[in-house]
Amino acid sequence: MKRRSILSVPGHVARMHQKAAASDADVVMLDLEDSVPVSEKEKARRIVCDSINSLDWKRKPVSVRINQPGNRFSYKDIIEVLSVCGGKINSIVIPKVSTPADVHFVDRLIDSVFEEQNIRSEIFLEPSIEDPLGLENASKIAEASPRNISLVFGIADFSSAIGAKFYSISGHGENEDFYPGHRWHFVLSSMVIAAKARDLIVIDAPYGNFKDSEGLKRSAELAAALGVDGKWAIHPDQIGVINAIFSPSTEEIERARQVIAAHNQAVAQGKGATELNGRMIDSATIRLAERTLKKI
Ligand code: GLV
Ligand code: MG
Repeated sequence: MKRRSILSVPGHVARMHQKAAASDADVVMLDLEDSVPVSEKEKARRIVCDSINSLDWKRKPVSVRINQPGNRFSYKDIIEVLSVCGGKINSIVIPKVSTPADVHFVDRLIDSVFEEQNIRSEIFLEPSIEDPLGLENASKIAEASPRNISLVFGIADFSSAIGAKFYSISGHGENEDFYPGHRWHFVLSSMVIAAKARDLIVIDAPYGNFKDSEGLKRSAELAAALGVDGKWAIHPDQIGVINAIFSPSTEEIERARQVIAAHNQAVAQGKGATELNGRMIDSATIRLAERTLKKI
């Protein structure tokens, strides 16, 4: 299952769900958290379930982001939404995860609802790292539940939690060229290490200015270069760029095929070492090529 682009839509706006269902996003994430005003929180749960039950999602996995564990909305988000449409939800995004206990809370509540409702399908968890304690605990959070499939970067809340200077209206990675290098290198790399050591993937935060496709491309390329697997989108126009950046390019696929072909030939000829275009191919290169071809 590909998770290159995750289109995030506010849970209380049904007409956006319809557009999202028809989009090319790999995953649609229906939000009950920060894009939903407090006055709409209760209603949003029902609207999300109606959409999940009634729309044609074209086989797209649907995620739901609940409210932060421990606040007054989160337990009912889990109980009410999962009771009504839990069997059709691919994953729960858990925002502002600071400790493994936040994941345990969600995990056990899912067990309870699933047992009561006799739901047997698999449901994944995606803890979102949005503060310094969460980043410090990223390894423990990554292994907090067998349901975990990814760690998600929450850039706006993270910036605010560390007191980073505020350069753009959304805090989502724009207007950051003043910084010599990539401002989020350390955070994303730390998440990649914590996640990949436990076979999880990493999803980057969205890019706030959906009219700036060059900025989006650069932000996605930097993340992909660090081993990040996908990125949230906040507008359908961002999906094409994100899918392209997190897919292997034609050249990468061609090179990977050549590496595998050269390796297979060497094995057939009983040779140990292989060479391609004058360069030695080692085992790591073969593994990299295999990984690239798996993404097609
Ligand atoms: C997402 O939740 C963010 O804080 O950027
Ligand atoms: Mg956030």
